[in-house]
Amino acid sequence: MTILVATSGASAPTWRSALASRLPQDAVVTALEPGQDATVDYAVVWHQEPGLLNALPELKAVFSLGAGVDHVLSDPTLPDVPIVRIVSDDLTGRMSEYIVWRVLDHLRQGRAYRDLEAAARWEDLPQPAAHALRVGILGLGELGRDAAAKLRVLGFKVSGWSRTPRRLEGVEVHSGRDGLAACLAQSDIVVVLLPLTHETRGLIDAAFLGGMKRRTPLGGPVLINAGRGGLQKDADILAALESGLLMEASLDVFEEEPLPPTSPLWRHPRCFVTPHIAAASDPDVLSALIADQITRHRAGGALTGLVDRSAGY
Ligand SMILES: NC(=O)c1ccc[n+]([C@@H]2O[C@H](COP(=O)([O-])OP(=O)(O)OC[C@H]3O[C@@H](n4cnc5c(N)ncnc54)[C@H](OP(=O)(O)O)[C@@H]3O)[C@@H](O)[C@H]2O)c1
Repeated sequence: MTILVATSGASAPTWRSALASRLPQDAVVTALEPGQDATVDYAVVWHQEPGLLNALPELKAVFSLGAGVDHVLSDPTLPDVPIVRIVSDDLTGRMSEYIVWRVLDHLRQGRAYRDLEAAARWEDLPQPAAHALRVGILGLGELGRDAAAKLRVLGFKVSGWSRTPRRLEGVEVHSGRDGLAACLAQSDIVVVLLPLTHETRGLIDAAFLGGMKRRTPLGGPVLINAGRGGLQKDADILAALESGLLMEASLDVFEEEPLPPTSPLWRHPRCFVTPHIAAASDPDVLSALIADQITRHRAGGALTGLVDRSAGY
């Protein structure tokens, strides 16, 4: 049988060989020969061409090469087969590294100290402790829960927001639209780890930013978005940074990626930009997970990490 690897960018050969080494009995391909469409039983995708999957009559399941599936579900012709996303300790750990890094950098005034260092100025700044701050995590899924646990270990108070009501030890959990307002109003640092769905698109707008806590131990609220760029309005974040409504931001994702060189966010002194690297998908680790799932599914076992298509994640 054939496994089709359909990714945008230059990574397709890497994923192909990582998967092929674990599924030696299969043809693992990045492009189909004429007539090969009918032999494809699984597809492994990242921003696949719209219509591509609909042309595969024997397709049994689609694997996203990341935790998010907005790029898969955006194809209006997507066939009615199970969609599987990545749930992996490796990916989760990488995301928590990024979140802890950014939260600690904001807490410990990394920007201000880098400026002082550049000016060779020996000066100390008033420093709140972690326990003086509350971090609000929007999205309490695989990634949000792990980040919450690690931030709690460091002493931060943690709140969270989910679509459905949840219980999470040591975390004040809010849900629904009213819950969002409450979570924003009490959080000194807001971390966004939401999926991009029809409900969350454009969520981080002027109203959202205006609803963030005003007086915080850091002099104002801080936003960290490592979910998806479509969750935010870049221009509203920029305006909030300019007006002082937002003290600082760490952004890993943007409405347009790559972020155009002309974007003022690159140069804003209180915005820290990374190029969608918060949690990279490691081909070696994730190919092993996908190969295991395919082998199990062919033997009649159930897939794990299934996406609820109506919820969009
Ligand atoms: N920047 C990067 O490098 C990178 C890497 C990996 C992933 N990501 C992003 O991170 C996202 C989260 O991943 P995950 O594995 O944690 O996802 P997940 O396990 O599916 O969790 C999603 C969380 O978001 C909540 N949620 C969804 N829609 C909501 C809404 N309308 N209102 C409030 N809460 C809502 C869910 O609520 P319930 O608990 O009620 O279901 C759940 O808690 C991915 O979708 C992807 O976009 C980014």
